[in-house]
Amino acid sequence: MCGIVGYKGKDKAIEVVLNGLKNLEYRGYDSAGIAYVQGNKIKIKKAQGKLFNLEENFKNKIESNLAIGHTRWATHGEPNQINAHPHRVGNITIVHNGIIENYNELKNKLNYQSKSDTDTEILAAYINDEYQKNKNILEVLKNINKDIIGSYAVGIIVDNDDSLYCIRKDSPLIIGLAESEYFIASDVPAILDYTNEYYILENDEYAKIADRVDVYKNGKEIKKKKNIFEFDMEAAKKNGYEHYMLKEIMEQPTVLYNTLAAYKNSDDLVDLSKYSEIDIVGCGSAYHVGMAVKYIMEEKFNLPVNVEIASEYRYKKVFYTSKHLVIVISQSGETADTLAALMKAKNLGIETLAIVNVVGSTIAREADKVLYIKAGVEKAVATTKAYTCQLLLLLMLCYRNDLKIFDKLNDDVNDVLSKIDMFKKISKKIINGKDVFFLGRLDDYSYCLEGSLKLKEISYIHSEAYAAGELKHGTISLVEENTPVISIITNKIIADKTISNIKEVKARGAYNVIITNQKIPNDLADEIIYIDNKKEYVGILVIICLQLLAYYSALELGRDIDMPRNLAKSVTVE
Ligand code: AGP
Repeated sequence: MCGIVGYKGKDKAIEVVLNGLKNLEYRGYDSAGIAYVQGNKIKIKKAQGKLFNLEENFKNKIESNLAIGHTRWATHGEPNQINAHPHRVGNITIVHNGIIENYNELKNKLNYQSKSDTDTEILAAYINDEYQKNKNILEVLKNINKDIIGSYAVGIIVDNDDSLYCIRKDSPLIIGLAESEYFIASDVPAILDYTNEYYILENDEYAKIADRVDVYKNGKEIKKKKNIFEFDMEAAKKNGYEHYMLKEIMEQPTVLYNTLAAYKNSDDLVDLSKYSEIDIVGCGSAYHVGMAVKYIMEEKFNLPVNVEIASEYRYKKVFYTSKHLVIVISQSGETADTLAALMKAKNLGIETLAIVNVVGSTIAREADKVLYIKAGVEKAVATTKAYTCQLLLLLMLCYRNDLKIFDKLNDDVNDVLSKIDMFKKISKKIINGKDVFFLGRLDDYSYCLEGSLKLKEISYIHSEAYAAGELKHGTISLVEENTPVISIITNKIIADKTISNIKEVKARGAYNVIITNQKIPNDLADEIIYIDNKKEYVGILVIICLQLLAYYSALELGRDIDMPRNLAKSVTVE
């Protein structure tokens, strides 16, 4: 998820854009760049790494009244200077946030020779190609959605034209309004030092910003409602949410869509059927992702899938067959134990595949092949959107020839997110538990592992995930009056078995919560969260329920949710 900023007005464009980019740093960046108009020339400066490196180019004040800038969170191509925005082709210079799904087809259609590895450069080439036909950029923007598939928030400067242009589809874009000066930005924090008044561009709306703002849709000028931002800057960086964790939970429809879109028309999804055995290795939630896909993958490809904790795997004897694949999962791509497990497999000449969020991270670079999720920056220590994007990507590997089964995922996730009040209510009941148990069988058990970790790491309540049939072999002695027990039932084959385990804890006075997509007796539980979904990705929906349960439990207890005690976002030591 990148950040774009643009300015048109007084001779301080560079200062305003750099300041705006600084205030978008929470969107993460691995490179940054700025294009500005000086005299009647467009000049571009870019830098890899932190924004500071870009600022080094502007130690001496440069006067300009029109500029666009960008902080890049790499999704296509390594985080380096060539791939950094702005991208310039012909008379067109742009900055872009989003994903152009059909950039390969566009590139072939234009017969365009790329200088970078980015989809954005192809977008610039397309806009320039269309612009050359009639030299009317507004006409190009009016028709762009006829050819471009994907999500985009774009800032545009055109040679010999001192206006600022922008367009939006599915990636956020606002237009800041002040006294004879105007701003565009991915998000409000970029403009708050100058104004709190802004328009929100809706899909397929585009604008020309000169000495006023004209907004259009389908070639017609439209009237926009002015918004006033009331929160402080810190709140703004969380889009008004109290915590990054909740913001990231709520971003899941978008980032799951972006992850799906990134591979829908590509042949990057590895064919797992050519292997005889698969090891999936990770730590913490990344390990849980492997557990969540194990049974599905074994059924789908009829081969053994061994899911391993990286810190164990790196020291144990592993038995590799000739057609073995080791899949390592890591949000940060820097987890020491996972990297060590990867290097162990590589040193033994075993093929490796990494499922990673941070582009260009160590694990991403060391693996034979990497498939990136498109979760964007994940700031909260407790992972949420990265987990679900990793699970989605692994499910896409299982159903690579039938990706249309994921078409309604976005709506189904929004449906779960609409049940927030139910999770708030249940969380009030579970926070008093000395122990909280999560029960499930097979893939339902794997969801319990993640639900238990989420609760523990942010609420500090002790909890355990238990294979439902195992509880009676000892641990059930801990279940007493009102002990909270969260049970997951999505696997029809073993639903009755889990139901009988729930009856066992009910008989001991447990406070029973069931998350299910199966028909079950109403009197079995104190609360039933019913997910009306039997799709192959129901695990993603269950996990989002457990994320919300953990979040609201920790909120009730006043915990430091984004930065829980003793934890780090990336464990780069053993
Ligand atoms: C999950 O909420 C934790 N933050 C932790 O278990 C994390 O999943 C684990 O440290 C692995 O991190 P990685 O995905 O960056 O490798």
